[in-house]
Amino acid sequence: MKKRILFVDDEPEVLLSMRRMLRSMRSQWEIDFAGSGQDALRTMAGKPCDVVAADMRMPGMDGLRLLERVRELHPGVVRIILSDHSDKDAALKAVGLAHYFLSKPCEAGKLKITITHACGMRALLTDEPLINLISRIDSLPSLPSLYQEVVEEAQSQNGSLAKVGDIISKDVGMSAKLLQVVNSAFFGFPGQVSSIMRAVNLLGLENIKALILSLKIFTSSHPTNFHCYSLSSLWSHSISVGMIARSIATQEGFSQNLIDEAFMAGMLHDVGKVVLMDKLPEECLKISELVKSSGCQLWEAEQKISGTTHAQLGAYLMGMWGLSESVVEAIAFHHCPGKSTNESFGTLTVIHLANSMEHRGRNAKKNNRLDVDYLKKLGISDRR
Ligand SMILES: [Fe+2]
Ligand SMILES: [Fe+2]
Repeated sequence: MKKRILFVDDEPEVLLSMRRMLRSMRSQWEIDFAGSGQDALRTMAGKPCDVVAADMRMPGMDGLRLLERVRELHPGVVRIILSDHSDKDAALKAVGLAHYFLSKPCEAGKLKITITHACGMRALLTDEPLINLISRIDSLPSLPSLYQEVVEEAQSQNGSLAKVGDIISKDVGMSAKLLQVVNSAFFGFPGQVSSIMRAVNLLGLENIKALILSLKIFTSSHPTNFHCYSLSSLWSHSISVGMIARSIATQEGFSQNLIDEAFMAGMLHDVGKVVLMDKLPEECLKISELVKSSGCQLWEAEQKISGTTHAQLGAYLMGMWGLSESVVEAIAFHHCPGKSTNESFGTLTVIHLANSMEHRGRNAKKNNRLDVDYLKKLGISDRR
């Protein structure tokens, strides 16, 4: 089925050039245009759409207000903001509202890639209530002690970027959020950033302070103790997987960017577990009971009870937050890499191995099954 995309801009010439730019996509997308926020909401009420891309500055209802309304009324719709970089405060406010940022004037290739990526993410999940639930998530829990530390460091007269980066990199929730911010087109940094140290250095102390103190992109308001796990044990598993992944990538001679990416994918691979625990606590209980009674793997029990897995949920959320496709793929298929279409040794392979090694290291029998057929296909099943 064709994806439906709605562009909203008050300048008719901009809409006209979008129309021309996207002519080649008409076989895959059904494209609509609206000249104002009110117009867009009326159109969406009559005909649901998959993606809405709105200009930041519009008279009456601006892009931020429109995306806020879209989040309330149609939470499953992918939200893109187009901004011309001139209004930094407004653009920073969009961090929690928009899934993707594009700079204006927008180049056709970038626009097509972003929308295709967004539509690809939507294909990972088909359950509408789950999509709606995840699309509302704009932050992940942080460990209260680390949250406190990072706020104090940002408030301190002598606060240092290195210290802020060090604290953030110990917390999966804060790391994911910072990567969403730094990889948004608003800042215009070239290439995908996967290292927290590089992210804080690129943003600089003033932006980091504004993000933490005024825009409160990190939060400690979520619960951190759940029926099935504690956040600290999950974060420590995640960081260990990240470190193992980094050392495998280093041994394999990956480039520094890919080594950083492997670490980050390891950190984030189980982020969907937090979504399940935080948003679907009752299903989570049933899942752990099924694992106990049947001895099946966790993701198999998740699939049976909730129709999806922590891997798919985490991948969907991180994809919506603009993380690179290879990180999203590694998260989505970390338990069953053979289901991915990618058959080369890369970030997915590293995360599958690192996750299994970490579980084995703790003697945790569940969740450590290696996908032997996949490893055979890559010709690495007999490696030690
Ligand atoms: Fe997992
Ligand atoms: Fe894991």
